[in-house]
Amino acid sequence: MFPPPTPILFCICISLIFSNFAASKETEVVGYGYTISNVNYEDLSGTSLTANLKLIKSSSIYGPDISNLKLVASLETKDRLRIRITDSTHQRWEIPEEVIPRSSHYSFHSLNSYDLNQEPKLSLTTPNSDLIFSLHNTIPFGFTVSRKSSNDILFDASPDPSDPSTFLVFKDQYLQLSSSLPRERASIYGLGEHTKASFKLKPNQTLTMWNMDNGANLDLNLYGFHPFYLDLRKGSMDGRAKAGATHGVLLLNSNGMDVVYDGDRITYKVIGGMIDLYFFTGSSPEQVMEQYTELIGRPAPMPYWSFGFHQCRYGYKDVSDLESVIGNYSKANIPLEVMWTDIDSMDAYKDFTLDPINFPLDKMRKFVDTLHQNGQKYVPILDPGISVNNSYATYVRGLEADIYIKRNGVNYLGQVWPGPVYFPDFLNPHCQEFWGNEIKLFRELLPFDGLWLDMNEIANFNTSPPNPSSNLDNPPYIINDSGIQKSINTRTIPATSSHYGNITEYDAHNLYGLLQSKATYKALRDITGKRPFILSRSTFVSSGRYAAHWTGDNAATWNDLAYSIPSILNFGIFGIPMIGADICGFGPNTTEELCRRWIQLGAFYPFARDHSDKSSTRQELYLWDSVASSARKVLALRYRLLPYLYTLMYEANSKGTPIARPLFFSFPEDVTTHDISSQFLLGKGVLVSPVLESGAVTVNAYFPAGNWFDLFNFTNSVSAESGKYVTLDAPSDHINVHVGEGNILVMQGEAMTTEASKKTPFHLVVVVSSSKTSYGQVYLDNGETLEISGENEEWTLVRFYAVLHNTGVFITSDIVNARFALDQKLIIEKITFLGVPKKKRLSKVNMVSNELNIENGIVQIHADNLSQFMSIEVSELSQLIGEKFELEIEMTMF
Ligand code: NOJ
Repeated sequence: MFPPPTPILFCICISLIFSNFAASKETEVVGYGYTISNVNYEDLSGTSLTANLKLIKSSSIYGPDISNLKLVASLETKDRLRIRITDSTHQRWEIPEEVIPRSSHYSFHSLNSYDLNQEPKLSLTTPNSDLIFSLHNTIPFGFTVSRKSSNDILFDASPDPSDPSTFLVFKDQYLQLSSSLPRERASIYGLGEHTKASFKLKPNQTLTMWNMDNGANLDLNLYGFHPFYLDLRKGSMDGRAKAGATHGVLLLNSNGMDVVYDGDRITYKVIGGMIDLYFFTGSSPEQVMEQYTELIGRPAPMPYWSFGFHQCRYGYKDVSDLESVIGNYSKANIPLEVMWTDIDSMDAYKDFTLDPINFPLDKMRKFVDTLHQNGQKYVPILDPGISVNNSYATYVRGLEADIYIKRNGVNYLGQVWPGPVYFPDFLNPHCQEFWGNEIKLFRELLPFDGLWLDMNEIANFNTSPPNPSSNLDNPPYIINDSGIQKSINTRTIPATSSHYGNITEYDAHNLYGLLQSKATYKALRDITGKRPFILSRSTFVSSGRYAAHWTGDNAATWNDLAYSIPSILNFGIFGIPMIGADICGFGPNTTEELCRRWIQLGAFYPFARDHSDKSSTRQELYLWDSVASSARKVLALRYRLLPYLYTLMYEANSKGTPIARPLFFSFPEDVTTHDISSQFLLGKGVLVSPVLESGAVTVNAYFPAGNWFDLFNFTNSVSAESGKYVTLDAPSDHINVHVGEGNILVMQGEAMTTEASKKTPFHLVVVVSSSKTSYGQVYLDNGETLEISGENEEWTLVRFYAVLHNTGVFITSDIVNARFALDQKLIIEKITFLGVPKKKRLSKVNMVSNELNIENGIVQIHADNLSQFMSIEVSELSQLIGEKFELEIEMTMF
């Protein structure tokens, strides 16, 4: 047993607390904290401990405190620690296991166990874990989570006795937990969804989470709920903690919350549920993502076509309007992969219907068939609200199945585009069948390729007045909803609405978008047997398993162009890597220059869609010559990069790593990267440095150490011995995109559709390095099978390795499941080596491969006077990509 605190210690501490509060005797504080009454090791392997906690003194602010709590700390894997604190006697709301399956399926027994004969300890760790959980028998009690290898304290919830805002508080509708942070060393990212000017969180802000249809408002709670952050550290003074060590923290809770970040502390203020904290040890950012998505689920595989360019608008008039947009893209020679329709195509804004006048079924079918014949796709929209209308079959079926959300025992009546609506309750087990059937019936009419789920926060135009006597509609602690402490019922359905199983909207509000995405994913998977493509506006922890996301109603402003980078980076770390912002801005009217700069950047979003509001002017890319010509240039590069992007999606699906990443993912030790919000990486090595200001024709871009080559013109390079800022030319039609040393990019040819580009030969761009082996890989499959790297083996993974050595350059491949690629007869036509020092001269080319023979190829050396490098291009090859090869180019020194 863990010894109880000695009476002396107890007296000292209590008097300390009261002497501190004496000055403000009248002012009650929100809580007085808890003490530890006893501790038990629960698990035989020593990976878990339980402590009983006792309230020190009650406070009436925000309701009565819960007197007895139970804390369970467990090392669920060597890299994941979970700390649960909840009422020890009454069950409380927590996210159902069916919604986010998370029971630990990892075997504790694989961890080395403690010697149980030892004295029970206050600390929990295992020999192979880098995490240590420590309970502090102080008054009030506290705990810390530390990194063993560096002694760094990652989370310090030991209260400051003089500051009650640092105490654990646990009431029915108010939970508070606070950790101090090393201000100078910790950079915090995440905690969304918010539009942010800076990816790294700035001190002194409150991050509110409560899903809300909030448009493009800086710093306010938006559509999604992700109480997850990365904490990236600078090195410690004693040198034990190295710069770049990263861990992740998730508070798995679905209730509304404010997270107060002031630089020295992070404090959670949550209006329900329980404390369910997870720590992911990292220590690289990529490892944190792997560990985080191991818990919440890996991002869904996305179909190949979804990486093409998408066009959408709220306000297309009719089918011929859609057709003319498609025709104009084609005339302008700008690739268009997917055409979308907004609510305009519906009959009186009713889901699963078509406007009989402007978007009649026969014409829409022809339109979709034509798209398909041309290798293009179609995605329509769905809103959750089902129009209340007895002549509307979907509504009637929903009524019969009794799957709508209720309030006071009757279906809750909301108000959205069609007028009065009921909302399907996706917590109701019968809802899946209802929703799936509606999707199936609609798809039988119109064979769409994906679905767009909008307004699912749930947005409700009819804010019902809160029931004043209800502590759900009117919780005692008011979160900073919309930045002005609005009622949590604002623009959504009341917190007193109820879901299946008497779950209140108060608890389940933030899960709606996730639940709808999950139901839609299952439906599409079952109907099509293919990989679903779903775009959802509202998201929650684990939505990435089912859906892509866009950043919602952004503004067509230069600021919002810049803010789109923190947003896409955030969704990457939230486990939703398929993310983009409305290119050219949703509204109001965009301008030629803004739209041009936006497509230059947007062409490198993982999800690239131009979308605009009904009330703003049109902004299809062909409308201005300068935008069209920029679009051709940047989308050509995007399409050439498709195998790279698709392989990043494969990596996201297998390891959780984002597609678009902050620079610190590849360069965590370079602390300058910790602050960068205006550039990003695609994968490990493609650096995108956009212009984000009106009138600018240069860009001040940061280059981490290494040699970087301009992907539009290989002769332009930047060499950084250590990281440095460089002012790059960025004329009006240009965005700077560089590939870094050590990377091998697998590219294909440009084309008007992904289907066409997928058939073109491969081009390897190899950036050699004098310090490391260059690496790149490509994942190949048919782009739509449900599973990625499934057991059917209808896929190939090719890994490439290249070295620069004294006698030249060498590249080879190794292949997993060669058959798929061999059957496709996909070939490598060209290999370009970049970064070869000029002091070498070509003497001989050896193609060491069964098929490959230099007679088939042409070797060209390019060395311009300005650069210290030469490039070597081996072209006109016909090397099967599914066949291992070796290629060596021998060179002599000058
Ligand atoms: C709100 C969405 O955010 C926007 O993209 C869409 O165009 C409108 N709803 C109309 O459906």
